[in-house]
Amino acid sequence: MREVIAFFFFFFNLIIPSTAGDSITLAVPLKDGQTLVSSNETFELGFFSLGNSTKRYVGIWYHKIPTQTFVWVANRDKPIVKDRGGVLRINSDGNLVIIDGGGNVVWSSKIGTNSTDSIAQIRDDGNFVLTDNTGMLAWQSFDHPTDTILPGMKFGWDFRTGLNRSMISWKSPNDPSSGDYLYYLDTHGLPQFMMRRRSDSVLTYRSGPWNGLGLSGVPQMKIYNMFHYEFVQDQTEVLLNRL
Ligand SMILES: *[C@@H]1O[C@H](CO)[C@@H](O)[C@H](O)[C@H]1NC(C)=O
Ligand SMILES: *[C@@H]1O[C@H](CO)[C@@H](O)[C@H](O)[C@H]1NC(C)=O
Ligand SMILES: *[C@@H]1O[C@H](CO)[C@@H](O)[C@H](O)[C@H]1NC(C)=O
Ligand SMILES: *[C@@H]1O[C@H](CO)[C@@H](O)[C@H](O)[C@H]1NC(C)=O
Repeated sequence: MREVIAFFFFFFNLIIPSTAGDSITLAVPLKDGQTLVSSNETFELGFFSLGNSTKRYVGIWYHKIPTQTFVWVANRDKPIVKDRGGVLRINSDGNLVIIDGGGNVVWSSKIGTNSTDSIAQIRDDGNFVLTDNTGMLAWQSFDHPTDTILPGMKFGWDFRTGLNRSMISWKSPNDPSSGDYLYYLDTHGLPQFMMRRRSDSVLTYRSGPWNGLGLSGVPQMKIYNMFHYEFVQDQTEVLLNRL
């Protein structure tokens, strides 16, 4: 009987990736090989590699879509290479950091806080949120898009915080590092969304300015209401809310 149980647990460990709930704290980091899953199991966060690459990234993908479909990558331009000893943790200075097996910080949330009882949680909307010991939002992945805007995200510029949310394409389907296409809000003159090739700065798309009803270059936006966006322009921000 004992052998049967031991075998069962051995087998179970092989097929079920180790999960660690939906959050990390200073005392409980996330090691390479473990993942966090949001409470209703929509999103999963952890280390991943693509194709034959030995590069390790921390990202968020849909938990239930069999083909890993990523919505966010933290260290896209600073992977951990040939090293499965990476850890995502809350540092003693309250920052969310990714540390390689040698103890080097490869990515940080770069916020000023000394909160040691912060908690970082993957939420059901796909947002990875760091809150400090007072429950205040300290940092969120939604403010740092990779190449995907999910419902609930804002895309554009917040004057007060200086957050300027833009997107950069992946280099290729097997390489999440910053690729050649930048999509951003241009605030010179009337605000409008633009896409530029980063290698030669050539403008490849522009939405046309907001005319109060829609973006003038994207008439289907208001006709079909296909994109569930809301444009906001006031004293504090100019951006699209993805609803
Ligand atoms: C992985 O490497 C093998 C052998 O070198 C190659 O045939 C295969 O196409 C590679 N797969 C990917 C996804 O790069
Ligand atoms: C955190 O603590 C360090 C060392 O005491 C201090 O220099 C720094 O200003 C503190 N940062 C914040 C945001 O409180
Ligand atoms: C999970 O939560 C999100 C956000 O609240 C919601 O949009 C989604 O429908 C939920 N999914 C399931 C499977 O319950
Ligand atoms: C926001 O970022 C874009 C793309 O990098 C840049 O062109 C634009 O000037 C920035 N806007 C502000 C207000 O800093």
